[in-house]
Amino acid sequence: MMRLDKFLTENEIGSRSRVKESIKKGMVKVNGVICRQADYKVDETKDEVMYSEKIVKYKPYLYYMLNKPQGVVTATKDNIDKTVMDLLDVDRKRDMFPVGRLDKDTEGLLLITNDGELGHALLSPKKHVFKRYYVQCGKEISESDRIALEQGVDIGDEKNTLPAKAVITGTNELELEICEGRFHQVKRMLQAVDNNVIFLKRITFGSLVLDKDLRPGEFRELTDEEVELLRKDIG
Ligand code: URA
Repeated sequence: MMRLDKFLTENEIGSRSRVKESIKKGMVKVNGVICRQADYKVDETKDEVMYSEKIVKYKPYLYYMLNKPQGVVTATKDNIDKTVMDLLDVDRKRDMFPVGRLDKDTEGLLLITNDGELGHALLSPKKHVFKRYYVQCGKEISESDRIALEQGVDIGDEKNTLPAKAVITGTNELELEICEGRFHQVKRMLQAVDNNVIFLKRITFGSLVLDKDLRPGEFRELTDEEVELLRKDIG
């Protein structure tokens, strides 16, 4: 159960003040009857809420892609640094979490959702969901290093990294696609071939591709098609 004004705000009808105004004006019906009480409790799973004669569908899950800028931490709360959740300027942040982690100095695609099942499946080591990174390196990447990165390198863990895809895209530039999410993995992989990362940006996450129109710090909701493709990624 939730307040009617909250239900409408969370389903993107408008700001809390605009929603309250509309309720007062009699623009909102609950189960066919005009309701002028902003604090009226609706059962979001059963009640039919209409705004301006249109049914408002309750979305239990929300999905956003954020182009994470450098300098913010991937966490829900932090006492010192700005977090990715601080950048997500939406009404409904309850239960939302970033799927996986990008380092403070890494930029790029970060999925934020309240869909725990999908989020956790996407991170499961068993699912082998690919993530592509654009990497600027300190030194030139030789063909033998590229092949080593693809075949798997020793980054100091029990096992070498799993097969990856590595494409040299420019001088000291690489696109690296990995299907694991080990701590600082890309940086450690480059170290393993005696190189280092100068700039790192994630450009894909499974089927999801970072929207080129999103500048660092901007976000948008995923389309239904994008969510569907992510579901397919986890089989
Ligand atoms: N690998 C890294 O080293 N850092 C990231 O932020 C993501 C992958």
